[in-house]
Amino acid sequence: MPRFIVSIFVLLCLISCSQSFVEKKPHQAAIATAHPLATQAGFNILEQGGNAFDAAVAITAALAVVEPAGSGLGGGGFWLLHRASDQKQIMIDGRETAPSAAHRDMYLDQHGQHNKKASLDGPLAAGIPGVPAALDHISQHYGHLTLKQALSPAIAYAKQGFKVTPHYQKLVSFRLQALNNSPAAKRIFLQDGTPPQTDTLIKQADLALTLEKIAAKGATGFYQGTVAQLLVDGAGEAGGIWTLEDLANYQIKERNTVKTHYQDYQITSAALPSSGGIVLGTILNQLELFDLSDYDINQQRHLITETMRRAYFDRSRYLGDSDFITVPEHLTAKSYAKTLASTIDKIKATSNETLHTSTSKGEDTTHFSVLDQYGNRVSATLSINYPFGSAFVVPGTGVLLNDEMDDFSAQIGAANVYGLIGNEANAIAANKRPLSSMTPTFIENEDHLMIIGTPGGSRIITMVLLAILDFIEGKNAQEIVSSPRFHHQYLPNEVQLESTGFSEQEKMAFRHFGHSIKVLDRQYGNMQIIIYDKRTRQLDAASDPRGEGLATIQNIKR
Ligand code: DON
Repeated sequence: MPRFIVSIFVLLCLISCSQSFVEKKPHQAAIATAHPLATQAGFNILEQGGNAFDAAVAITAALAVVEPAGSGLGGGGFWLLHRASDQKQIMIDGRETAPSAAHRDMYLDQHGQHNKKASLDGPLAAGIPGVPAALDHISQHYGHLTLKQALSPAIAYAKQGFKVTPHYQKLVSFRLQALNNSPAAKRIFLQDGTPPQTDTLIKQADLALTLEKIAAKGATGFYQGTVAQLLVDGAGEAGGIWTLEDLANYQIKERNTVKTHYQDYQITSAALPSSGGIVLGTILNQLELFDLSDYDINQQRHLITETMRRAYFDRSRYLGDSDFITVPEHLTAKSYAKTLASTIDKIKATSNETLHTSTSKGEDTTHFSVLDQYGNRVSATLSINYPFGSAFVVPGTGVLLNDEMDDFSAQIGAANVYGLIGNEANAIAANKRPLSSMTPTFIENEDHLMIIGTPGGSRIITMVLLAILDFIEGKNAQEIVSSPRFHHQYLPNEVQLESTGFSEQEKMAFRHFGHSIKVLDRQYGNMQIIIYDKRTRQLDAASDPRGEGLATIQNIKR
């Protein structure tokens, strides 16, 4: 056969082989968020001709208005993007940064003890927000519509108001004292200093103006000019340390995602400064060494707990903002997982002490998942940390500030609000990003894809892990979000179980393996997932029954 015919044959084969990996478009779109109005904002934007990235901008801004306890313009987050046209996958890091005047011991009292209130309540607890910059960045670099179009549903919600729900009341009650300390927060979120009645409309006129500034000027509308001046003055008057330069210097980072291979699945997840991808990878790499199907449910849970223990131990020792520290590369290596897993006793819990010698209230934060009719995806987890963040609203801006500074280790070895301990790697430093557990994730093989994430502080990573295992087992979206959850984070040395979902016998089984268990007084998490069957083009989506969110699949009329 002439050589050029062979070459053409090889070329055609290459084209068709690579095409077999190109995913078929879903025809429909799916959105799962923690609030029905945010889901609606996303579809509104898709129907105007926007893509998943425009929808993500609209949802992020809408959640900032209608779910103020979880995220907002005064907070940060991670947006995992997958662009169908070129298969580009990237993480947009809009995590808060420590102000330039921040320093290692800033939350220690005169006795050298961590003053926990100082890193949780009021503007001193707040990092420089990343959400406004991320809205502009995602819109400019990935969207089709203008930022103004994408922000318009959120602006309307801020002006018209959203209705108080039982969930809102619960979270407001949890942060009542701190909210009462901020006159602007009290005026917006409370009624005479108490939780408002259900169905009361919460209107946010100042926030609408701030959003309009961003819509008109992009990120500059927030980080410079009158809004920036108000933020610096307002935070400063209440004990904050922000400067105009801190705001003007805030930078979004595009980071490579963390990829893990488990059986025939590829898991794409968050990179540092989130510990999510690395910890998830360390756990899955260990689990791959056991064929879980060989074990009964209780044995599986024991093995999973042991892999969690080891991965969270490493989290506490090694992880922090990779722009500031060098993180060992071996943590996600398969060979390292072998070393870790070799110390797992299949019938007995390992004591934390032997790990040393051998080798985390309240639902806040928020997650949303989007898959558009073109195959573009977004998995985004956003936070202002504790419910209602620092509970401080900067007068004249409507911006509720985060308390993400508590995610740093304020003192080596001292636990933060989620019980996580940290090391030098996560010590406070000027302009550094605090270590996060937010784990927006895609998992897929040739046939199936899941877009997943959840809030839940230190338990985020283990929730995503359990959901991944359920997905691989073939469970559907509703089953996955409804599954009972358990968690181990090395310290405290206990398996935490949700209040419901575990029988007495199952609890006994944990004890039988030598684990201490702590049955929590509540359930946790607010998972939002989308599943796509690449063969049949069927979509499935679900919003966690523990929350008040909405997952919808829709044809896009255009
Ligand atoms: O970034 C983190 O890991 C935390 N600030 C997330 C907080 C959170 O999920 C609270 N939700 N219950």
